[in-house]
Amino acid sequence: MQICRTIAETRSAITALRAQGKAIGFVPTMGFLHDGHLSLVARAQAEAGACVVSIFVNPTQFGEAADLDAYPRDEARDLALLEGAGVDLVFLPEVTAMYPEGDETIVETTRLANMLHGKVRPGHFRGVSSVVARLFNIVQPDVAVFGEKDYQQFQVIKQMVRDLHFPIRILGGPTVREADGLAMSSRNVRLSPADRLAATVLSQSLDAAQALAAQPGTTVEDIRDIIEDTIRAEPRAALRGLDTVHATSLDYLHGPLREPLAIMISVQFGEILLIDQRVIQP
Ligand code: PAJ
Repeated sequence: MQICRTIAETRSAITALRAQGKAIGFVPTMGFLHDGHLSLVARAQAEAGACVVSIFVNPTQFGEAADLDAYPRDEARDLALLEGAGVDLVFLPEVTAMYPEGDETIVETTRLANMLHGKVRPGHFRGVSSVVARLFNIVQPDVAVFGEKDYQQFQVIKQMVRDLHFPIRILGGPTVREADGLAMSSRNVRLSPADRLAATVLSQSLDAAQALAAQPGTTVEDIRDIIEDTIRAEPRAALRGLDTVHATSLDYLHGPLREPLAIMISVQFGEILLIDQRVIQP
């Protein structure tokens, strides 16, 4: 496994992989890897002859400096996991390499970035698309894989690739969960033991919504009610966001379930905000 810390090294290593006739599959991450990330690696490997992973805790997508500082990091463990997974190249850039002095260009999906979670975290999706555009230009992958857990991020990336004509195929991977249903996240380690137990309420509320949706006559409003009731029954949890939207346009849906519905929830435990999502077909 090659470990590249500069853009120049990365470009020449990728040129060499291409010279061997390999297509490039890419998985961008912020590290502190878990099985969710590794499932995306496996997907990239299934789609392309060479797999490249980036690890970069991107400052421009964090609102508060404290959240950025608290983001968990363990480079040695991440590299061992990626080596074990058979990754070809890991790109670990410095902040000053990604955003050199005088950097001023932003990439923003102007509608998608500023709705839903984007309203709660202003500038977050602009930071995501700005860094992913830079990473795409450095790695120049044929295919890139993103998790559906970060549902709005996935839509933002697809929109950006379409609008800017990146010649990259974007694939989504299903959410990988702990045994009790909690979606894997690098942030889960920051939960207190009691909050960790209570955090199963996210997937439980989505399960309840899905079961209700299977019954004839269920409306979007019924789905919202059952999610609110399930989360409210857990005293450690505070519901911060509940969006019931069209699965691709992300426009709000109302009334009977006639179109694919994406349910996006964000729930706070102490200082930690967790998100989860589910798409329900009518
Ligand atoms: P990060 O949170 O490290 O996630 C990297 C990728 O792993 C994202 O595509 C995310 O959706 C996916 N992922 C996270 N948890 C998952 C799970 N439980 N199951 C499946 N996939 C999961 O998302 C980011 O980093 C950053 O915003 C990034 C895209 C790297 C830009 O900085």
